[in-house]
Amino acid sequence: MLDVYEQTSLTRKKVAASGGYIDWLTQPSTFKHYPEFLFNYPFGAAEALHILELCRCVTSREHIGAKPYYKLNTPSAGNLHPLELYAQIRGVKGIISGIYHIDASADKIVLIQEIEADGIETAVGLSHKFDGMILIQSCVPFRSEWKYGERAYRYCYLDAGHQLASIQAAATISDQDMTILSGFDADVLNKAMGFKDEEFSCAVIALGSETEKTVNPLVKPLLHVAPTDYCDTKGNLPDLMEKEGLFTSRLFPFITKKDVVLKRRSARKFEGTYMSEDDFEQIMQHLSEDADPLECYTVVLKKCSLEAGVYHKGKIIKAGSFTDELTALLVDQHFIKNAQIVTVITSKEFSSDSLMCAGAFAHKLYLETGDKEIGFTGIGAFYDEKMQKFLGTKDHIMYVCAAGK
Ligand SMILES: Cc1cc2nc3c(=O)[nH]c(=O)nc-3n(C[C@H](O)[C@H](O)[C@H](O)COP(=O)(O)O)c2cc1C
Repeated sequence: MLDVYEQTSLTRKKVAASGGYIDWLTQPSTFKHYPEFLFNYPFGAAEALHILELCRCVTSREHIGAKPYYKLNTPSAGNLHPLELYAQIRGVKGIISGIYHIDASADKIVLIQEIEADGIETAVGLSHKFDGMILIQSCVPFRSEWKYGERAYRYCYLDAGHQLASIQAAATISDQDMTILSGFDADVLNKAMGFKDEEFSCAVIALGSETEKTVNPLVKPLLHVAPTDYCDTKGNLPDLMEKEGLFTSRLFPFITKKDVVLKRRSARKFEGTYMSEDDFEQIMQHLSEDADPLECYTVVLKKCSLEAGVYHKGKIIKAGSFTDELTALLVDQHFIKNAQIVTVITSKEFSSDSLMCAGAFAHKLYLETGDKEIGFTGIGAFYDEKMQKFLGTKDHIMYVCAAGK
């Protein structure tokens, strides 16, 4: 995967060449909508579906000019949301068994196709009917490629990791066990879901239990609906994604609350004051724990109970104030100067799987800091090679997070 890492790396030269100008009028649509004639459950209509609403919902509605600018409970690089979420529901009291699309922007869960003797089970490696919900997460790369070019490969999978942890949060709040399904052919699943070459499944999650009743493959693939109003891909992102497997790694356990999930936001500025010592110690402790396949390098920007410097596995590896150097490494994002800590997540392995893992890990941190009223944001823009040199590691730089008051 080294070539994809290099291909999607940021350098000063690439940033300068991109020119920074974006014609927002050409932005592809951010949300997929199935036709209006399909049956739907509006959000709030059925208690049994509440868990799906918590997985993916709009939590802020604004307009920029004539365009709606929605933010979701999951963060997204550039707020472009190159993801979609579907659920097969079977044997849930009061709900028609079928395959649904979670249309977050329209606050509804749309029935794409009813199921009975057939279902999505055989396409996700199950041989019997599954009672409960099977969630299918997909990536729509053009939504992100449109702005970020090849770097979008990373942003799609980091976003996907956030979405996975968001499902985990909803399952935890709803007291349900979840299982990651993998080991089957994503291509077969993509076809069954009615995806063409603009949308690719990236993770499958099961909430419920497999029965002993036999099940048939879907009688016909789901209706195809384009996930964007147009697609003008310039690179090889769709080819890369078509070859990727589905998420197989582990998720990191955490406990959270509904209000924390619904009020999650990315910090856009930091006050520059300090979080409480207890909170700081707890966060530093989490960041030094084993998070295989990931590792964290945490830069304490300002002296507090700890000396300023770079910390790895609980030990200081480089003392000093690195605020200016780090700001430059984060593509001159000056707002991080007032953060208290910046954590760089690395991994020996660079793959869609390890990127999703990094996204999920950061999501857990979003919710943990959110619960403590600490500002937090994911940062996907950094100069990869320079950051590796700064940290003195050859491991891949996956993601960066900043936290502070
Ligand atoms: C993968 C990823 C990369 C991001 N990169 C940056 C970044 O480089 N700089 C930044 O200020 N925010 C970054 N963000 C935060 C997004 O801008 C933010 O999630 C988005 O604007 C939506 O706002 P919300 O998180 O408050 O819902 C990133 C978020 C994600 C998920």
